[in-house]
Amino acid sequence: MFRRFSHALIEKNLILLGVLTLITVSIGGLVQIVPLFAVETTIERVQGIRPYTPLELMGRNIFVREGCYTCHSQMIRPFRDEAERYGHYSLAAESMYDHPFQWGSKRTGPDLARVGGRYSDDWHAAHLRSPRAVVPESVMPPYAFLDRPLEYGDIQDHLRGQRAVGVPYTDAMIASARADLEAQAKPDEDPTAFSRRYARARQAAFDGNGRDITEMDALIAYLQMLGTLVKFGDVTPESVRQQ
Ligand code: HEC
Repeated sequence: MFRRFSHALIEKNLILLGVLTLITVSIGGLVQIVPLFAVETTIERVQGIRPYTPLELMGRNIFVREGCYTCHSQMIRPFRDEAERYGHYSLAAESMYDHPFQWGSKRTGPDLARVGGRYSDDWHAAHLRSPRAVVPESVMPPYAFLDRPLEYGDIQDHLRGQRAVGVPYTDAMIASARADLEAQAKPDEDPTAFSRRYARARQAAFDGNGRDITEMDALIAYLQMLGTLVKFGDVTPESVRQQ
């Protein structure tokens, strides 16, 4: 009797229904959200993750500027087909220093989260200059204009900006940002100091020309490090599937 009465009352009273709905939804929300206040971070620390080198960071800016994310995602989902095609699914830590992140939501082209090391630098340069010269059926636009000089006068401010939003660049990294950027793009320069600051960062003439530092150098340096920081060792699609 009481149940029938209260149910009818709630259904016929729009404001009461609204208030009770709000209370119910809030309880659900609080149960999910409140425990997160107690943990310092939801991102597991993973060995090998480091901030981008100045050259990689500039390459990342070009990736954002050119809107590469409109056709390429950087997020491998934990599904068998994705793991077999792209490699281990993406970890939260792998994009923890991305401001803004490049997960993307559209795959006109393949996912790029682990494209680093899959092709040679020459392949990337040829592909970016003219995708159809390498992949005849490609619909990717050509980016040959990236062979122009890279403007990096404000690289130190850029690192400072990243530090302001939580990327752990040290004072030494900021002080030597210009030198580090130049050292990475010129294989003839002494890499000792640069390599000490950025573990496993590769020094190369990324665009095939070791004298001038171009936007192409920066973009290829960035593409070639994507997904290479974490060493997964014996993690295979097989073990991904069992999880
Ligand atoms: C209009 C959509 C589109 C845009 C914009 C685009 N791409 Fe692509 N990209 C593709 C397609 C399609 C492919 C697959 C065919 C090929 O390899 O060219 C591809 C392939 C690639 C590959 C090879 C990936 C692999 O695993 O084989 C890389 C690297 C790449 N793109 C980088 C970029 C970068 C960097 C930019 C921005 C400067 C960019 N793309 C912009 C569509 C696009």
